[in-house]
Amino acid sequence: MDTLTGTMPRQDNDINLDDLVNVVAQGAGQDLAHAETLPPAAYTSQAFFDLEVEKVFKPGWVCVGHVSQIPNVGDYFSIDLFNEMLLVVRGKDDAVRVMSRICTHRWAPLTNGCGNAKLFSCPFHKWGFDLSGNLLGAPLMDQVEFETSKHNLPRFATEVVDGFIFTNLSNDAEPLAPQIKEFSEQLKKFALGDLVMAGGIEYECQFNWKIMAETFMECYHHIGAHEKTFEIQFPARLSYIEEGSSAWTYGVVPAKSTVPTEEIQLGLHPLTDDLSELESRSFFLYLVYPQHLLAVWADRVYWFRSQPVGPDKTLLQTYLLVHPEAKNQPDYDAILKQEMGFMDMFNKEDITVNTMQQRGAETPSALPGRLSHLEKAIWQLADYIREKTAK
Ligand code: FES
Ligand SMILES: [Fe+2]
Repeated sequence: MDTLTGTMPRQDNDINLDDLVNVVAQGAGQDLAHAETLPPAAYTSQAFFDLEVEKVFKPGWVCVGHVSQIPNVGDYFSIDLFNEMLLVVRGKDDAVRVMSRICTHRWAPLTNGCGNAKLFSCPFHKWGFDLSGNLLGAPLMDQVEFETSKHNLPRFATEVVDGFIFTNLSNDAEPLAPQIKEFSEQLKKFALGDLVMAGGIEYECQFNWKIMAETFMECYHHIGAHEKTFEIQFPARLSYIEEGSSAWTYGVVPAKSTVPTEEIQLGLHPLTDDLSELESRSFFLYLVYPQHLLAVWADRVYWFRSQPVGPDKTLLQTYLLVHPEAKNQPDYDAILKQEMGFMDMFNKEDITVNTMQQRGAETPSALPGRLSHLEKAIWQLADYIREKTAK
């Protein structure tokens, strides 16, 4: 009897971090025609995730919000990032600030929600902080030597670019706006900073943040995951990814020529009246490294905000942004209801395959996979990760 023997090349999911960083670095310089994914362990290793937090996220600019979430003085929301508990507030001077929301007395969170405040009063011993994070007063602290000005909330570098709020947790990053100048120029006519939030859906995802970003950026998976949704109007084969830069990249997803333009747009107020033929019949996918994701359509923007929590855990909020006039349309509520249902449906199609990929990446026999030309953004993101994690 013949015995079938297979060679079983194995990845070692317990590979030590130095070895893994070396394997990741070895992929540098590969051309797209021969490109592979990062090694599966780069998606599953806790040590590699921790390295990304230190070398990618903390030194970089992480998108935490959109200005329409806090339009008025005193508006605020909370967000947690890499164990920091943050407060994003519009101050009396109209500036947006990102600060710690942990009381400087004995570390109680001042809030965990969102809303409008005149000041932030700690529920533990009632220390009060103004909208800029300065300590206004601390009850019954007059019997000890105490200077209120020394106990302000820690602040993080904050930059608003094209309406999106970014923070830099290490407080020493180069300014973001000059790094993504061409991105801003390209999207200027869409006036992203004037858009308003139409709705959002939140998901607790059981996969790595890179898997989320990669699937967002490639349309190859339309033929599988979105066979009955996107593939019909936006076939994978028509999509392409542009060259990009060291700070961002983008892709174009044109509709089939037989699809009527009114089926591509929802009927909402267009974001600009200066649409080219390509812009009115396509959508555009943007990634500002490491995690800011936008899908820009003629009359709407899908914005994906992600909070990487662990190698196999990512919190994801998906938002729909529209032109401010859209809310005055008589059919707005009906369009919105239908669109939010559609967004949830295609998100779940992505989440299903992303969860499958994460599970597969954890198996010992998983190896780096070959990339199609349609997955150029995965190749680009891998180069970004290589550069940031290199020793
Ligand atoms: S912990 Fe906030 S006042 Fe004491
Ligand atoms: Fe998708």
